[in-house]
Amino acid sequence: MSDREQGDRLRGWLRGIEVFAGPLPEFAPEQTPDDPVRLFLSWLSDAVADGLRDPHAMTLSTVDEAGDPDARVLILKGVDGDGWQFAGHGFSPKGHQLAVHPRAALTFYWPEHGRQVRLRGPVTPGSTQDNAEDFLARSATARAEALLARQSQYLADTAERDQALEKALATVEKTPSLVDSAWTLYTLSPMEVEFWQAAQSRVHTRLRYERTLKGWERFRLWS
Ligand SMILES: Cc1cc2nc3c(=O)[nH]c(=O)nc-3n(C[C@H](O)[C@H](O)[C@H](O)COP(=O)(O)O)c2cc1C
Repeated sequence: MSDREQGDRLRGWLRGIEVFAGPLPEFAPEQTPDDPVRLFLSWLSDAVADGLRDPHAMTLSTVDEAGDPDARVLILKGVDGDGWQFAGHGFSPKGHQLAVHPRAALTFYWPEHGRQVRLRGPVTPGSTQDNAEDFLARSATARAEALLARQSQYLADTAERDQALEKALATVEKTPSLVDSAWTLYTLSPMEVEFWQAAQSRVHTRLRYERTLKGWERFRLWS
């Protein structure tokens, strides 16, 4: 088979994969709350109530020093009037990127509901106390891994990793109050929050909240 035929076959196969299978919920933008946090929490609660997997997983997008984008999935740690929270190691690539460019985007997708939420805005690190509380709430192994401070570095030898992890775990177990000072609870304070509801008709519904001096304003968007 030629490369071209193979490419055509692959495109046909991808086109044939169903998306937005439904049944999908209705979304009435005119009946939404003034505050995007409330709408977000109601969509997240729907995802949890319907047993969707990893409903609090989201993609964090950042840019590196050269301006190149990067993205990875993280777990949502909290949401309040200040913004959406996530945690990571300050020495990881995302930690370095956020130190240089403290702005980011978060994307949630709940496939069974055909719902996407997108947020963009500045990111601030937590206070020493908030960071420590988040760190201490992690499992012993997760704390030991963080203490190694080697996330995303090349791994040449798994035996070396296992040994280092075992040593770090022993330290954590001996000193349970030990906190990694580079562990950070970040808050993204959105300037925009967009809610996107798929429809099987393909006439999707979009609503964007934009932060203004007067508070949140809502805008419908073309799909
Ligand atoms: C569902 C899921 C949840 C994750 N949660 C976290 C998290 O809360 N914090 C974290 O640092 N990495 C988390 N990761 C791993 C990240 O996606 C990523 O691999 C890691 O943070 C290194 O990213 P970086 O090299 O861009 O810093 C998670 C991955 C998945 C698939």
